[in-house]
Amino acid sequence: MQIEIDANSGFCFGVINAIALAEEELQHHQPLYCLGEIVHNNAELKRLEAKGLITIHHDELEKFTGQKVMIRAHGEPPETFRKAYEHHVRIIDATCPVVLRLQQKIKKCYATLSCQPGIIVIYGKKGHPEVNGLVGQTGGTAIVIGSAEEANDIDVSLPIHLFSQTTMDKEKYIEVARVLRKKMQQTLQQEKVPLTVYQTICGAVANRVPELRTFAHRHDVILFVSGKESSNGKVLYEVCKSENPRTYFISDISEIQPAWFTPADHVGICGATSTPRWQMEQVAEWLHNL
Ligand code: F3S
Repeated sequence: MQIEIDANSGFCFGVINAIALAEEELQHHQPLYCLGEIVHNNAELKRLEAKGLITIHHDELEKFTGQKVMIRAHGEPPETFRKAYEHHVRIIDATCPVVLRLQQKIKKCYATLSCQPGIIVIYGKKGHPEVNGLVGQTGGTAIVIGSAEEANDIDVSLPIHLFSQTTMDKEKYIEVARVLRKKMQQTLQQEKVPLTVYQTICGAVANRVPELRTFAHRHDVILFVSGKESSNGKVLYEVCKSENPRTYFISDISEIQPAWFTPADHVGICGATSTPRWQMEQVAEWLHNL
């Protein structure tokens, strides 16, 4: 059996920054609190918890007066910063710069809507922490849709500003925009419609897709390693699965089934932007032992 780990898989720079920041803090000060799970990967979370990281929930924030609380790469709505300020919580902000730029873009767009008509629509996963942070820039007024079907339900009588969560699938985002445009053209009875589509998908996800397709194609079996909560994990797994039907999603080595392989297989191991390299190496080690 030949085994290869995808060189392009693993942490994106936003996650690398957040984890480096947490580890640096933990060297000097323990415990360190993080608002929500620092990364959507249980194995990495356990590793950091062993070093003193404690995950807290949003409804507990005000109890941490005087303590350091970390904001993860997904970012937070302004309401969280306000609450932290009021309760003298010391924030360590690890919001990814790409998410931060998107928040600012949405905030600016929302400000323009105070003097001109229009609505903000966000293509993303409802309830996802990044999406909550984006909706927070609009005072809670943005409409979140998770699919092209839901785009059909949007009232298109006002101009629309369309944004995407950073980790969504690019092709599906294009489809959402296409559905909205078509509905607006039919409703407004005109070819040119007031729909502005912002390119806000992160390159760290989108740029991996073509290489991942090639990787999935040239292996007999693909083990896709990711936490089940990871948005980009789902997107990138679907990419592999569409290219190679013998693709398996695993979050832990205990989920691997020997029956998936034959001794002659070339096995590829890859993962999400929240999958640590060491976890993919652990999977490779397990396969070597098999
Ligand atoms: Fe940031 Fe893109 Fe990663 S938005 S957290 S670099 S997937």
